[in-house]
Amino acid sequence: MTTNWYNNAVFYELYIRAYKDSNGDGNGDFRGAIEKLDHIKSLGVDCIWVMPHYPSPLLDDGYDVSDYLGVHPDYGDLDDFRAFLDAAHARGLKVVTDIVMNHTSDQHPWFQAARQDKNSPYRDYYVWSDTGTEYADTRIIFLDTEPSNWTYDDVAGQYFWHRFYSCQPDLNYDNPQVHEEMFNAIRFWLDLGVDGFRVDAIPYLYEREGTNCENLPETHDFLKKMRRMVDDEYPGTLLIAEANQWPEDLLPYFGTPEEPEFQVCFHFPIMPRLYMVLKKGDKTPIVDILNRTPAIPPGAQWMTFLRNHDELTLEMVTPEERKWMRQQYAPNPRMRLNLGIRRRLAPLLDNDKRKWFLLNALFLSLPGAPIIYYGDEIGMGDNIWFPDRHGCRTPMQWDNDRHAGFSTAKETYLPVLCDETYGYQQVNAAAQEADPASYLNLTRFLIGTRQSLAALRSGQFVWVETGNDAVLAFRRHVDGTDGVLCVFNLSDQPQTFILRRPRVDVLSRPEVKMRGKVGLRPYACHWFRN
Ligand code: BGC
Repeated sequence: MTTNWYNNAVFYELYIRAYKDSNGDGNGDFRGAIEKLDHIKSLGVDCIWVMPHYPSPLLDDGYDVSDYLGVHPDYGDLDDFRAFLDAAHARGLKVVTDIVMNHTSDQHPWFQAARQDKNSPYRDYYVWSDTGTEYADTRIIFLDTEPSNWTYDDVAGQYFWHRFYSCQPDLNYDNPQVHEEMFNAIRFWLDLGVDGFRVDAIPYLYEREGTNCENLPETHDFLKKMRRMVDDEYPGTLLIAEANQWPEDLLPYFGTPEEPEFQVCFHFPIMPRLYMVLKKGDKTPIVDILNRTPAIPPGAQWMTFLRNHDELTLEMVTPEERKWMRQQYAPNPRMRLNLGIRRRLAPLLDNDKRKWFLLNALFLSLPGAPIIYYGDEIGMGDNIWFPDRHGCRTPMQWDNDRHAGFSTAKETYLPVLCDETYGYQQVNAAAQEADPASYLNLTRFLIGTRQSLAALRSGQFVWVETGNDAVLAFRRHVDGTDGVLCVFNLSDQPQTFILRRPRVDVLSRPEVKMRGKVGLRPYACHWFRN
């Protein structure tokens, strides 16, 4: 079994714009984030994923890149980026950045040149049509706003292809020059010292008539080529695949030992099922999806998450499950977006610490490299009345000073939350420091406990039969050692569990030895070691 740093790692998703504003312009920036690296380090995480930091009109919060080789002026400049990287590395934190491969902003000079001149070499950087009728079997992802994957451009006199917003034209990967451009971007950031990339939206790189234009063989060929380049020139670089797909379609993104693609792939289908099992008090959905998840190559890893910067996506569930999830978790239509739910973790769980602790303990003990979304470590809320996904991207709540200690500006890029339950006066990092039972200290406790147990970091996974659908149990162990037995009561009713031999629960403080028939309180969770 090959073990690399990322196999065992816990990640933290950082939105620079939301984190800390160092120059009082109302936007978070790299200098501000440097001030807060000790907070990130204190959580016990190993690696930071920085959401897109490139120059961009920010119509999709930076996933609309207008220059792959720069830093958004609101966030700082290249020196600030370097300083951030050095400061993170000095604390033993790795840094991966987002790289948006599938599309650019329509403000990117390539697109501007392409639309203006049919004969420009940049024309072929994008995908054009005279009729806008091709690839009709391709689904629309941003269903709420985009009527089609084709948009007519007056200047170009043709339609261009886009899987996301119409301000994000897709790049044409049939053009090898596009490969070179993206490779140069990758080289640029690796030369600066980043440890890897979260590679955005990779299923959609190629289009072929008669297909759904996702996961095509041509896409895999390109990804193998990218991996070869990175391995040859920058060995050890981490590449993480963002592919919102079923487990069997995800497997090819790991590639093969001879022809690898990504070391780590997000496991999207697990996520909604974590919420399902909790609401149903029935473990079946999570058992089914894990049983449907194929074994992955040695040294590869899944990435797991509870929430991220997007809506809680419900693409990887059945239509009935989606309907049920939206009824349960998004009763107000305003909470819904595209196929998903635009709410943060704490509000989804009714701000109930028992549910929050259980879900965190569950996802921190399942196989995979977990990632924590900024703000969820203090139980931040959301504002469903902000457009798009902005309600889950509000400024980090540091203290109860003006703008939650985020900024000294008059106005911030989005207002800080100030409602009765989740407003910064109630929810902020400073207030939570002193309280051992705060979200913040529970996060540190859970991550720290996981980090101290090799079986949870990288052990094998075995189901443990409980004879009770409300009680989920599994064992994680390294090479046949006894490992850690994880037991969760998913229901709001007391349950029992039989321990075949006495074991110590490391989630009780202080640790307690238990034996025989163990009573499980509603939403109880235990990590038992010998
Ligand atoms: C990102 C979204 C973004 C989309 C288009 C997704 O994978 O997570 O935030 O809107 O890609 O780049």
